[in-house]
Amino acid sequence: MITLRHIGPAIWAASMLIGAHIGAHVAAADEAGDIAFGEYLSSQCVTCHQLSGASNGIPPIVGWDTTSFFQVMDTYRQKARENKAMQTIAASLSDQDIKALAAFFATIEPTGD
Ligand code: HEC
Repeated sequence: MITLRHIGPAIWAASMLIGAHIGAHVAAADEAGDIAFGEYLSSQCVTCHQLSGASNGIPPIVGWDTTSFFQVMDTYRQKARENKAMQTIAASLSDQDIKALAAFFATIEPTGD
């Protein structure tokens, strides 16, 4: 039989888990990404996205601010934004990977098409 005595700790445990999850995201968003590591990881992006910032049907991702970049990648990772290719790519990246990519792409000036 389930009594309040059982439900209390379960709710407490669930809220602790949610809290820890949010905490991890905030911590990761505070760290600056490693630009050199981001450049290394970017080889898997520039087959589609142009480093020049030109859009050839694929949106440019250079010169973004790092916070927006992180948030967009995270929405693909959570599958809150539709695009199979981007969802698959984002799912393979850690918070640290995305931070590094954000830091690298932010250093690139769009030179147009
Ligand atoms: C197979 C081709 C392909 C590869 C590889 C790829 N992308 Fe994308 N990316 C796309 C397409 C297509 C879109 C637009 C999807 C949409 O409309 O949501 C996109 C969208 C994005 C966006 C959002 C752009 C915007 O203006 O909203 C970001 C950020 C992004 N990609 C980053 C990356 C990063 C970082 C990598 C490498 C880790 C990467 N992409 C690899 C095809 C690709």
